[in-house]
Amino acid sequence: MIPQSFIQDLLNRVDIVDVVERYVPLKRAGANFVACCPFHGEKTPSFTVSQTKQFYHCFGCGAHGTAIGFMIEYAGVGFIDAVKDLAQSAGMQMPEFKPEHPRGKTEEGDDLYAIMLKAAQYYRNQLKSAPRAIEYLKMRGLSGEIAREFGIGYAPDGWQNLHAEFPDYDAKALVAAGLVIQGDEGKRYDRFRDRVMFPIVDQRGNVIGFGGRVLDKGEPKYLNSPETPLFEKGRELYGLYQGRRAIRDAGRVIVVEGYMDVVALAQAGIGYAVATLGTATTPTHVQKLLRQVDDVVFCFDGDDAGRRAAWRALENSLDQLADGKQLSFLFLPQGEDPDSHVRKLGKDAFEKLLGDAKPLSQFLIDELKSHVDLATGEGRAALLKEAKPLVMRISARFLGRIIRQNLAQVAGLDVRDLEREYGIKESRSVQARPQYRRSVPGFW
Ligand code: UTP
Ligand code: MN
Repeated sequence: MIPQSFIQDLLNRVDIVDVVERYVPLKRAGANFVACCPFHGEKTPSFTVSQTKQFYHCFGCGAHGTAIGFMIEYAGVGFIDAVKDLAQSAGMQMPEFKPEHPRGKTEEGDDLYAIMLKAAQYYRNQLKSAPRAIEYLKMRGLSGEIAREFGIGYAPDGWQNLHAEFPDYDAKALVAAGLVIQGDEGKRYDRFRDRVMFPIVDQRGNVIGFGGRVLDKGEPKYLNSPETPLFEKGRELYGLYQGRRAIRDAGRVIVVEGYMDVVALAQAGIGYAVATLGTATTPTHVQKLLRQVDDVVFCFDGDDAGRRAAWRALENSLDQLADGKQLSFLFLPQGEDPDSHVRKLGKDAFEKLLGDAKPLSQFLIDELKSHVDLATGEGRAALLKEAKPLVMRISARFLGRIIRQNLAQVAGLDVRDLEREYGIKESRSVQARPQYRRSVPGFW
């Protein structure tokens, strides 16, 4: 690891304008520099470099980052090489640092990524000779093409099928990868048996986990890889890798709950959906998505569980809100999930629904309102009390103000009074926590 302090020094020392200018001619425009964006095709410049903030930002495609980020994205070098290169140009001596224990390597030197890839290939191959599994996927409406795109496979029935693939079936690495379970009596066996296998892929395309679905009735319906050195549920989103093109093209991403929802949407021609992996939507998930798009639609079932999941997603999004970003919630009719619903409606009608999704600002107030009796002073007071911790987490300057204004109106209060009671000073919304707003400068 390179010490964080060195990175900070380096960023203070280099000038992003010089760094970008090595590759892209910049023109001065007021306090900033502009150019046609090197990350997407355009004729009028929307790529800006701020010397004071030492950030670049493209208003067209959303690309943004520091000098180091620019080197990584533009010059296509890795993090360490970007730092080395910049340090050299700034005349700084690289600190001594221990190369990180390579991620994905076990102490014995086995490569977990390679193991997962091999397993995925094995499962995929097995699907070809598993008519029952093929029949199941067909029954769910999937084409061979979509199954290939998502690398869907089949883990045959039996306790030690992986033994044939991995002659050293006793290797610790197979357990560490979550593929093999070490039983109490010292016996080992395959975790996934007689299941349709959905590989979970990270943003670089590495297989890091699996979700396995039973073909008929059986518990659990989905068996997932455990948390491993490669796989952390709260960080990963199923389908993000496969959908990267579609997400970029659409400028939007749909967040759903299930593997099958993502795959069925893709089958219907909506390739920009991702799923959380049997967990609530985490702040990390939201942050990851907002780095790529400005428009996130959470799509949940219309039942109570769906509303609860939506509320969790809202709570975990508040810190990430930024002016210019839009998060909204689509509630499906009772008993429908995105998979069943897109089948019923087809692509166009489903996309039209997305357009009518409820904005977060609206959902927040509607939900709070539904818990109280607005006809009484007590009810309105309870509303303000319940809303406070939520509203206080919003650092997006304008959206925060607008939500407070709506809230004040519902409670029959002047927004300035509400802000005073909440202890919000004039400048508060400006100086709030430097979350990833740092890298999406609001207004230049
Ligand atoms: P659902 O139960 O809503 O199933 O689980 P689904 O996605 O509609 O699945 P199909 O259509 O019956 O095939 C939603 C998600 O919750 C996680 C999985 O990630 C699943 O995709 N889950 C569900 C589990 O991890 N384990 C389970 O036993 C069930
Ligand atoms: Mn379903």
